[in-house]
Amino acid sequence: MIKTRDKFSSLGFVVAAAGSAIGLGNIWKFPYITFANGGGSFVLIYLIAIALIGLPIMLAEILMGRRSQQSPVTAFLYFSKDVAGGKLWSGVGFLGVAAGLVILSYYSVVAGWTVYYFGKCVQWSVSGFNETIASSLGTEFGSFLGNGPMQVLFHAIFMSLTVGIVISGIKGGIERVTKLLLPILMVILSLLCVVAMFTPGFGEAIRFLFHVGPIHTEAVLEAVGHSFFTLSLGMGALITYGSYLGRKQSIPRDALMICVLDTVIALMACVVMFSIIFSVPEAERATTFTKSATILFTTLPRMFYSLPGGVIIAPVFYLLVAFAALTSTISLLEVVASFLIDKLGWTRKKAALIAGGTIFSSGVLVALSLGANETLSTWAPFGERDAGVFGVLDYFASNWMLPVGGLLTAVFVGWFLDSKLTRDELEEGHGMFKLYGLWRFLLRYVCPVAICWIIIAVIGGRAFN
Ligand code: TRP
Repeated sequence: MIKTRDKFSSLGFVVAAAGSAIGLGNIWKFPYITFANGGGSFVLIYLIAIALIGLPIMLAEILMGRRSQQSPVTAFLYFSKDVAGGKLWSGVGFLGVAAGLVILSYYSVVAGWTVYYFGKCVQWSVSGFNETIASSLGTEFGSFLGNGPMQVLFHAIFMSLTVGIVISGIKGGIERVTKLLLPILMVILSLLCVVAMFTPGFGEAIRFLFHVGPIHTEAVLEAVGHSFFTLSLGMGALITYGSYLGRKQSIPRDALMICVLDTVIALMACVVMFSIIFSVPEAERATTFTKSATILFTTLPRMFYSLPGGVIIAPVFYLLVAFAALTSTISLLEVVASFLIDKLGWTRKKAALIAGGTIFSSGVLVALSLGANETLSTWAPFGERDAGVFGVLDYFASNWMLPVGGLLTAVFVGWFLDSKLTRDELEEGHGMFKLYGLWRFLLRYVCPVAICWIIIAVIGGRAFN
């Protein structure tokens, strides 16, 4: 009996892939790197990177998945039969599966923080948020990080949710959950934007976000690097989701929609956060922001509670971030699970449980590396800047695994796949793809050059995380 592959319904793919793209990268990371890189110029380069590098590679990943009907490892095997290098190309797929394991191990720990802060905010909203709590937010966050059992507990909660959804399959699990959560997320974020419009910092936030000043090389590198992470590219997540895409759907249109949704959400998150940040008097700002990466958990609660309606906004906001993270963690686990299903013939349940269990275990090391365990917290094979298991894994995934995976995917599809095959697949369900020539040009030349440049910068000591 031939097993037919589980499929998304018509809108299911866009929603699930957008759900994968929209995550902590948009709501937690993008605002703080934009803030650190000076606003408008960074946003502009980021938009260019999405259009010229992210979008073309996204098309390449989706077309590989839909044509082969396979997850990354077996997808590369499927295409590489008559291609120079042969089976070696499946190494790119393995790299993707490994990246999924690595990224989810720490992503789920951070995702756990959002659940914890949701709970905290509910508690503060009910029993009152006062000056004492406000002034101890930084210490509170620090001791939460250093609390091993708590870190493991919230990581476990998040991994269990993720495994549960992946077990339920494509249509019944992933599609159903993202179709429910993504609209809620967009409504909440839109409401928060409306609230932001009435804060005193709104005008300055908009000016900061869209005023283009001088452009620095550093910012360009960071923007290109982030465009991979935020679109979930470089590790075959979209090859996997593409393999569940129906033949009547248009790949170019769907990919464009995913990029637009991801970008809009990232910008909305910036509007909300910056409006709140700029509402604080300038003199106080410097003392409030110790480290931009922790703004979300240290500065923001305090600001929420100083706003009218803060008792509602605060918990709702953390719930939103948790939802965004959940639709991303399921895509990361799906890559690993579908590999076990396609390659080893395991059932979905067995694959999700074993992959989830493995990731949970490696994540425990991450959870204990935030202060709870001395050795794990200070391990620094790549230098002090990325000390600790958490820092090491993030460095390795964001700087090496994703760029290398993206580079090899671009080279493989651009240079090794027959142009008739790629054109047919992109036109299937779409009709004539007028920008085909441009797409192929970007994939063959612009993407590899840009990514090699990042890799060289990383070798030279620049890190993106
Ligand atoms: N894109 C997600 C975010 O912005 C994270 C993510 C999910 C991811 N799946 C991925 C990143 C696959 C790289 C590869 O938070």
